[in-house]
Amino acid sequence: MNVTIKFKLNGKEIIKAITENKRALDFLRDDMLLTSLKEGCGVGECGVCTILVNKKAVNSCLMLAEQLNGEEVYTIEGLIEFPEFKKLQDNFLKHGAIQCGFCTPGMLVSSYALMLKNKNASIEEIKQAISGNLCRCTGYKPIIKAIDTTINGE
Ligand code: FES
Ligand code: FES
Repeated sequence: MNVTIKFKLNGKEIIKAITENKRALDFLRDDMLLTSLKEGCGVGECGVCTILVNKKAVNSCLMLAEQLNGEEVYTIEGLIEFPEFKKLQDNFLKHGAIQCGFCTPGMLVSSYALMLKNKNASIEEIKQAISGNLCRCTGYKPIIKAIDTTINGE
């Protein structure tokens, strides 16, 4: 059965008929063509599917598309318009926080969610904010450095 949802996606009002019980991850990737979202574990463990919902980092693999109704949602494709997000992305590049890049979109969304709620986050708070995002490549130190530099300066 189809249901219609109305929500804000990357700054634009969207009204869309969706198949009931479709995951938000599948809807955003397949129907809205937002391919920054990846699927890793599919069970809320890896964080590569992270999106921003009402300024909070959420695993889109654990959410149904109909739960997006009425919410404000951002993916990397929309966040890139914000200067503070661009600065975060630049620092990921500068500090070698991107290797294979598979975890990067989710890492960026989780870090940006932290930046929105905490303007001077400590290293511990940064670690906590990305604790749901797994990275197989970097050992996390460059990622933490990139986030810390963005929030607290060099
Ligand atoms: Fe969603 Fe792993 S794919 S947390
Ligand atoms: Fe490869 Fe993080 S850069 S998984």
